[in-house]
Amino acid sequence: MEVLLSRQQIADRVAELGAQITLEYAGKSVVLIGVLKGAAIFLADLARAIKVDATFDFVAVSSYGRARVSSGAVKLIKDIDNPIEGLHVILVEDILDTGLTLSYLRGLMLQHKPASLKIATCLDKPDRRLVPMDADYIAFKIPNHFVIGYGMDYAENYRNVEDIRLFPEEAVGH
Ligand code: IMP
Repeated sequence: MEVLLSRQQIADRVAELGAQITLEYAGKSVVLIGVLKGAAIFLADLARAIKVDATFDFVAVSSYGRARVSSGAVKLIKDIDNPIEGLHVILVEDILDTGLTLSYLRGLMLQHKPASLKIATCLDKPDRRLVPMDADYIAFKIPNHFVIGYGMDYAENYRNVEDIRLFPEEAVGH
């Protein structure tokens, strides 16, 4: 599978984002909330590039599953473990695609009354949006291609591929 973004390109960009977040959150601590499972690897790298105090939490939502088509309905499978009221939160996602997942999660997190809420995403596919949604920290904007690797899957496979690679379009009907 063709490499879209190499591990080195990803590492360089994640370091930049980490430095930016470190500056913007100077003197504060931050709660990084990863969206399982795709964001696990991005969160692990981003967290280590952030030099302010950070804690982790994770949420899980219903995913596209094997059929690569969104039903439009997002369901929470796992909620946060710890309260976030009054805390600075960054939601960490692998891909911002249609926007349905993050707009749902954003609304849900805001109900917990964090002091601030920002969104970091490894990839943004702006062409695919069904609802308006922007991320505050974007590692890479990419065209409308289905990708795997660096935490991202096709039917739960390829998450451990180090680079971000183009998955054959004919296989996903994307
Ligand atoms: P959306 O923004 O609600 O459409 O959903 C984003 C989610 O769809 C991501 O967290 C991924 O789990 C999944 N997704 C979207 N595009 C891709 C892709 O190219 N590869 C792997 N997963 C994808």
